Amino acid sequence: MSATVVVLGSANADLVVGVPHHPAPGETVLGADAVVLPGGKGANTAVAAARLGARVAFLGAVGRDAHADLLLGSLTGAGVDVSGVRRADRPTGTAFITVSPDGENAIVVSPGANASLVADDVDPAALAGAAVLVASLEVPPAVVEHAVALAAAAGVRVVLNLSPVAELSAATLAALDPLVVNEHEAERLGDLPALGVRSAVITRGAQGARVVTPEGTTDLPAPQVTPVDTTGAGDAFIGALAAALAAGEPLETAAVQAIRVASVSTTRQGAQPSYPTRAELDQL
Ligand code: RIB
Ligand code: NA
Repeated sequence: MSATVVVLGSANADLVVGVPHHPAPGETVLGADAVVLPGGKGANTAVAAARLGARVAFLGAVGRDAHADLLLGSLTGAGVDVSGVRRADRPTGTAFITVSPDGENAIVVSPGANASLVADDVDPAALAGAAVLVASLEVPPAVVEHAVALAAAAGVRVVLNLSPVAELSAATLAALDPLVVNEHEAERLGDLPALGVRSAVITRGAQGARVVTPEGTTDLPAPQVTPVDTTGAGDAFIGALAAALAAGEPLETAAVQAIRVASVSTTRQGAQPSYPTRAELDQL
């Protein structure tokens, strides 16, 4: 069965350490026990959407190391089709993450295999029958632009997380419905409608999200939670958003569900391990 949500993006092993505070340049900080968890903005998004019941395929690259097995295990465990994941002769992407007591993180990403992705890794057949393509920018922007063009030509809706911020062509921007960014990224980009996107969603952490469409701007609140680890909350948001859009929900309804999923994810450690299933969500 073909996937309804296709995710193009990074897969990283997250090396996570709890710290009393994030180190300043030149400072040494003693942290808690280190854990290695499956992460990466692309793989996170794929797992989040699949846990909610969407049929998901992931396009990406990993290395030939133990971190690759960790990631492929997490993806397949969530039911994600990984036949579009290539093994590269570079280390699997790695993210070095410190988490402070308030749940805020600081991250250094070493892209490794993610940086080896090329346009040919995006099999047009993978997009056939898909409802939504989701992409993020921890992989080469040229590959993302190629995938967006294929999706747009095939009538597949494109959701793009412009994280980290990269320069994109006018044609790519014009296909985005929505562009998703956090508040910091939104500030760097300036007036979002002026970019030529069809719609935009700004994730605002504990404040929820702002949905911008040609009809107007709507602010959606978030439930009050006590965050343990906000790592990957934005990716959970986008995965949930894509799953809802693929199921035919309007953008605002999809964003309401995405806020709930992202909020739940912040109450548990890690990125992928913290994402709720549909059954868990219904129980909360
Ligand atoms: O968005 C969170 C993700 O960013 C982490 O899982 C880490 O891998 C980095 O890619
Ligand atoms: Na989390």
